[in-house]
Amino acid sequence: MTDMMTRIATLTSELMTAAWPEAQGLPTAEELRGLLAVPPDSAMGDYAFPCFRLAKSLRMAPPKIAEALCEKWNHEDVARVEPVNGYMNFFLNRENFARETMEELIAKGEKFGSSDLGAGKTICLDYSSINIAKRFHIGHLSTTMIGHSLRRIFEFLGYNTVGINHLGDWGTQFGKMIYAYKTWGSREEVEKGGVDELTRLYVKFHDEADHDPALEDEGRAWFKKIEDGDPEALEIFTWFKEMTLKDAARVYDMLGVSFDSYAGESFYVDKTDAIVAELRQKGLLTQSEGAWVVDLSEDNMPPCLILKKDGTTIYATRDLAAAKYRQDTYHFDKCLYVVAYQQDLHFRQVFRVLDKMGYDWAKDCVHVAFGMVSFGGEALSTRKGNTVHLDDLLEQAQQKALDIINEKSPELPEKEKVARQVGIGAVIYADLSNNRIKDIDFRWENALNFDGETGPYVQYTHARCCSVLRKAAEMNLPAPDWTALTDDEAQSLLRLMSRFPDVIQEAAEKYEPSMITRAVTDIAQAFNKYYYEHRILDGDPALAAARVALTGATAALIKTGLYLIGIEAPERM
Ligand code: ARG
Repeated sequence: MTDMMTRIATLTSELMTAAWPEAQGLPTAEELRGLLAVPPDSAMGDYAFPCFRLAKSLRMAPPKIAEALCEKWNHEDVARVEPVNGYMNFFLNRENFARETMEELIAKGEKFGSSDLGAGKTICLDYSSINIAKRFHIGHLSTTMIGHSLRRIFEFLGYNTVGINHLGDWGTQFGKMIYAYKTWGSREEVEKGGVDELTRLYVKFHDEADHDPALEDEGRAWFKKIEDGDPEALEIFTWFKEMTLKDAARVYDMLGVSFDSYAGESFYVDKTDAIVAELRQKGLLTQSEGAWVVDLSEDNMPPCLILKKDGTTIYATRDLAAAKYRQDTYHFDKCLYVVAYQQDLHFRQVFRVLDKMGYDWAKDCVHVAFGMVSFGGEALSTRKGNTVHLDDLLEQAQQKALDIINEKSPELPEKEKVARQVGIGAVIYADLSNNRIKDIDFRWENALNFDGETGPYVQYTHARCCSVLRKAAEMNLPAPDWTALTDDEAQSLLRLMSRFPDVIQEAAEKYEPSMITRAVTDIAQAFNKYYYEHRILDGDPALAAARVALTGATAALIKTGLYLIGIEAPERM
């Protein structure tokens, strides 16, 4: 079913071209759809089309255009059209609209909005991509949740997806860490303190190296040992890595996030020689101050460093190898990199180099950038301790949810489970409620806010629907009479729901999960408005059945919407 707005836009566009076949510069059906508005007062129609944009092309006053178009209008979906002050106001055949929409919603259930658009296509998503020996903190929440949500959105649209955690597990910092561990640490303390102890050692290294620059060489020497496969160096490095991943696994479990691959930077080290050779053979490498680079001056970018003076590779070299590996292995149609916008230049360089290498799939690599997270107005810094660990945040959120449940509904079954779903839902919702490119100043109050437009509010609306449905299940209701759903509140709810499939597609096209967050919140609000204005279970049973069906469809849709942004939907709260 194409949604009502698209249908009205298409019909209006057809009318327009039929009425003025010679006119130049008329809006296309798609543009027209963008111009269609929902009037604030339903006395002015269910939709309104402003004719002002047409005035120039038609050399006619907007009210005249509206009149001419309204006169020609003739279609059963719209009960009547009225020209008012240059607007065409459409009054839907509300009963038809309710029936059609409800039939579709019921037939699709929780699959409403899904499609096979992506059948046979593969999308690689590089997200979360944490760094070894660092605690999982709020700086990695957005990449984790945006990536996870996009993955669910694309799967819902029929794509095959590959979730990749491109671990930051290579670089001289690991040599420094081993040196610090051997000099100031012990196995016992690291075992006890975990990743925090590694951070402490790393900070200590930098403090000491400030007065003793020779330490840098020591660190490099240990990194060289890792590179050369020295057993002791490798053993310690592997241990650090396992410890970090175990720590992260707890957080991923709490968030319900998983990956198909943990192939990170170290995985590509032995694949960079081939990349360097290929760049050289294609004549793309030039020497600059002893290092090897790809010149990108014609693209107005600084050169992309490939090999350092000492012959070692860098982040970019490994990303080139990773992109090629992913294309060879997964044959992706798109490869998305969900990474903060600070790395914008890095990705532009990498994608441009791939393009220069002659890979036409370079155009399918997309940097899905997001804003910076600060804490208390300052940049995050693990070294300065200016950050919030994700496990602390998630635990506090769960505790807060549990406190509220204990106070408001102490009898609730499975309290702990619901507290987990609600607490974590609040954090995820706060992270995915803004346009992804917006900077976020992390505030505990926001992440733990349960009032207003929040995850718990939407979850609560879902639970409210479920509660109505439980009561309705005992009533043995007849077949629904859709005339029950012709009032303003039901119609606005239906209108929002009928648009949901479009929202999902748009969210996928723009890589923007917040569009789903927005839609699901609007739907929750519209349902609550409906709920306050109408007694769902009372009165004529056939009319009640229609209201119950609307409630059921709302529950299913909210559940799907929350699922797509990675939030669970408890049935009781
Ligand atoms: N580990 C990096 C960081 O935390 C992000 C890696 C992103 N992915 C990539 N293929 N470069 O900043």
